[in-house]
Amino acid sequence: MKKILLTGCAGFIGSNFVKKIAALEKDYEFLILDALTYAGHYPTIEEEISNNSHLSFVKADIRDKELIDTLFKKNDFSGVIHFAAESHVDNSISNPNIFVETNVLGTLNLLNASLNFGRDDIRFCHVSTDEVYGQLSETEPAFTEEHKINPSSPYSASKASSDLLVMSYFETYKLDSVITRCSNNYGPFQFPEKLIPVMIAKALASEKLPVYGDGQNIRDWIYVDDHNKGVWEVFKKGHSGNAYNLGGDSEIRNIDVVKNILNILEKPEELISFVEDRKGHDWRYAMNFSKANKELGFGPTVTFEEGLKETVSWYLNNQQWVKSVTMDKKC
Ligand SMILES: NC(=O)c1ccc[n+]([C@@H]2O[C@H](COP(=O)([O-])OP(=O)(O)OC[C@H]3O[C@@H](n4cnc5c(N)ncnc54)[C@H](O)[C@@H]3O)[C@@H](O)[C@H]2O)c1
Repeated sequence: MKKILLTGCAGFIGSNFVKKIAALEKDYEFLILDALTYAGHYPTIEEEISNNSHLSFVKADIRDKELIDTLFKKNDFSGVIHFAAESHVDNSISNPNIFVETNVLGTLNLLNASLNFGRDDIRFCHVSTDEVYGQLSETEPAFTEEHKINPSSPYSASKASSDLLVMSYFETYKLDSVITRCSNNYGPFQFPEKLIPVMIAKALASEKLPVYGDGQNIRDWIYVDDHNKGVWEVFKKGHSGNAYNLGGDSEIRNIDVVKNILNILEKPEELISFVEDRKGHDWRYAMNFSKANKELGFGPTVTFEEGLKETVSWYLNNQQWVKSVTMDKKC
């Protein structure tokens, strides 16, 4: 049976991947690796791991080269889907070093181990972001995969660096590699530091909702399950050496995301409070995903309106999860 290494799957996107894809794909064995940083919460995936003999877990840090090499020597991996990363832009502004250590050097450790100790036909799938392309004006066309890499924040620079390393391992060593670049994800199990879960929590507590700048920045949003379906298709069928944009077809201004949340929760817009803008705040991201659509049949199935309602309702019904992840990590 093919054995796949999944990194970072105690976090937001990876835990949804475990629940909706890995747990159901019984023709594969999945070893889930996570360092359980502040953003990783083992109980989120514990039930799936306990109930499925084709899933197993190891607590490990991708920055630890020896440990990663040993893990690859012990296992006959035929694939890696690499979600693990430091993922919060604000943290990268206050503490950039760990972003380089995890996102760049950690990825390099996985690439080297794949090359040196993986099966000859091992496939490496790197989960990346639209932020590597930099920003767009209001009128520029959406990013295609041909757009130049032009990151603005230490986070996006670290992801762009790891994208370039992945491509260099394809070009130089012929390591079978693919990259996914997605829009902002939203959905259940997102750590309450990112825009949507933060705003839901503040609105529920009737606290002020802090919105950067004038709130006019635009993001494209993709429901996490749509994104993960795209990642799985790229991993299975994407052409080696290629990057694939996975967009949600839902461009929306930040202020409108916040107003929609208040509206769903029937809370007043007076709770909105504009705060000093994020340093280097990108103006707009938008994704042209026609390549993934044509080659792999990828397309978002959940509209932002439906997905946001689902997400708000999930957080309303899972306050215990929110408490446990924040208490666990002393946030
Ligand atoms: N969330 C988004 O909107 C979004 C958008 C585009 C791309 N991405 C990318 O998708 C991936 C997953 O993002 P997410 O939102 O689920 O992030 P997350 O912060 O919720 O989860 C990251 C996971 O990685 C683990 N991790 C961190 N450092 C590690 C290390 N050194 N060794 C092993 N594990 C480590 C954490 O414990 C956590 O479980 C990331 O690569 C991110 O850059 C996310």
